[in-house]
Order: sequence, then structure tokens, then C-alpha cells
Amino acid sequence: MRVLGIETSCDETGIALYDTNQGLIGHTLYSQIDLHAKYGGVVPELASRDHVRKLPLLVQTLLDEHHLEIKDIEGVAYTRGPGLIGALMVGACYAKGLAYGLGIPVLGVHHMEAHLLAVMLEDTHPSYPFLALLVSGGHTQIIHVKAFGEYQLLGESIDDAVGEAFDKTAKIMGLPYPGGPYLAELALTGDKNRFKFSRPMTDRKDHQFSFSGLKTQALTTIRNNTSADYADIAASFQWAIVDTLRIKCARALAETNCKQLVIAGGVGANQVLRKTFKEYFQKEDIEVFYPRPVFCTDNGAMIAYIGHERLNKGQIDKTDTSLAARWALDTLTP
Ligand code: KG4
Ligand code: ZN
Repeated sequence: MRVLGIETSCDETGIALYDTNQGLIGHTLYSQIDLHAKYGGVVPELASRDHVRKLPLLVQTLLDEHHLEIKDIEGVAYTRGPGLIGALMVGACYAKGLAYGLGIPVLGVHHMEAHLLAVMLEDTHPSYPFLALLVSGGHTQIIHVKAFGEYQLLGESIDDAVGEAFDKTAKIMGLPYPGGPYLAELALTGDKNRFKFSRPMTDRKDHQFSFSGLKTQALTTIRNNTSADYADIAASFQWAIVDTLRIKCARALAETNCKQLVIAGGVGANQVLRKTFKEYFQKEDIEVFYPRPVFCTDNGAMIAYIGHERLNKGQIDKTDTSLAARWALDTLTP
């Protein structure tokens, strides 16, 4: 089965083709970052309108690139949620219209399940069960992935997500939107030991996170110093986050007896996080897996993959399937 995957949950239009025999045929991505940058964050209405403009062109380009035609698509998967409702609607309407026109099945998939299992697109991937740290702009979760579709949420952030803390701190330093990658770049030249930030919630035995206090500490430090200190602040802040995530993951791994850890979601593209986790957990006999950076952030490939797995099992949208701006991962079924 050859499945077209469509991602439009936020500010990235992602398209991909996934096939039972060939695996990932190809993918393409259009980022709206330049469109939203001058507003310092995503403007939902502009995002929806840009998805409308770009989506059909991207699909045609991807098909052309792989010498395929629209009739060669055998199933369509789109992001049903969570995400911006208007943006989701564009992908859903396109997917449903295309499927109806071609007389093929269509399925709305869970954006976070797609992030979680994007690692399965890589040659080096874990086998079930495993533990996953999901770190994106809207989520910070530790999940026990027992099998495909069987997810137990062990803990999550009670306030800001990690990506959000990165973005807000970067914004205060005057870095462009979205700040995460810019803050990470600035941190490259800084001293991570100069400022002492806390490791929130690491004294607790549960798996909950909190990052808004850390963000406030960063804000105060930024105010009390000058721009010459920003690189050191960025490095110290990033190090506090990575260290906190590492401590919490180590505890969850011990508790679940998992020997494999997957880092997923946009913040998973962070190089210090990747390197630190790999080095630390290797010593603990734990294997760490990541998707390539472009599959950590939003993309169509992860949607095509989940869509393919589920459509192949005969799962399709019901006629009354609606979008889900909020959608808990642990309500999914295999
Ligand atoms: O998964 P994603 O693309 O979108 C959501 O579903 O949220 O994650 C986007 C988040 C943003 O907060 C962005 O700043 C952050 O991931 N991010 C990073 C890096 N690359 C992306 N944060 C830190 N370091 C990075 N290299
Ligand atoms: Zn995402």
C-alpha cells in the first residue's frame, strides 16, 4: 500500500509517501517560519491560509519527483490533532477530498504518536517495548511505549513544555522565532557552568516536569546581566534543561526496567541533548535512539508512517470523524 501523509498541525506543511515494500519513498517540507517570524510566534489564521496555498503544490512536486501520479496513491493519512484547529482543517479537507475523489481509504492520525514513532523510519530503531522522552513546543512527556498504539503516560510538564521554555527564553534575549535552535547555537560559544540554574522537580520521585520557574530564573539572569553574558546564560540554561531531562529519564528507565530510550519531538534535534544522553546512558547499558533532526521537528514522513501502519490494518476514518485540537495519547488503541 502506498500512503500519502499530510502534516499541517502548526506552521510546517509536510508531505511524504510511504510504501509497504519500499518504506519511505520521499518527503518534502515547507516551513512558514519566515511568515510568522515578524510576529514573534505562529499566527493561526496566517498558518491556515499558507497551508491552503502550499499543500497542493507540494503534493504534485513530490509525486513528480518520484515519477508517480495522483492515481498511484492508495491511501491518505493526515494529522487529526493535536494542533491548531484551522491548520488541521486544511490538511483534513484536502486528504478527505483526495481520498473521496480517488475512492481510497483515509485516516486522521495523532501528531504525537507520529513524533513518538518517527524513529521507526530510521535503520537503527528500537524494538517494543521502550521508553520515550517526547519534547516538543507543546509537550514534555515520558511515555512507556509498550507496543504500537499502547502508550502509558508516566509523567508530563505541569506548566511550560521544554520547547516553549527554550522559545520564551530566546525571545527575551532578542533571538528570532522559533528560538530553540537559535538559543542552542548561541550556547555553543558559552560557558555552561557560569550560571547556576535549578533542576526543577528532580527531588521528586514522580515523573512530572515543570519549566516555568527555570524560565523565570533565566529571565531574571538576563535582566541582571548584559548581552555580553547571553551566550553563557544560554549555555547554562540549556545545560540545566538537558540535565533535568536526563535525571528524570534515568529514574523512569530504572522504574520500568526499559533498556531502550527514544528521544522524540522538535527539541530532540538539540545536539547537546543528543550527545549528553548518548554518552551518559551508554555507560548505564541503555541504548539511546533518535530520529534524524529533520524527523524530530514536524514533518510529513512520520504521518505517512503511522497512516501506513494503521490503514494497512484496515483502520479508516468514520464518516463523522472530526478534528481533535486536544487528544490524549493514551486513549489510542493498537
Ligand atoms: O515538534 P515540533 O517541531 O513542533 C511541535 O509539535 O511543537 O517542536 C518545535 C519546538 C520549538 O519549541 C523549537 O524551538 C524546538 O522544538 N526546537 C529546539 C531545537 N530545534 C527545535 N529546541 C532546542 N534546540 C534545538 N536544536
Ligand atoms: Zn510536532
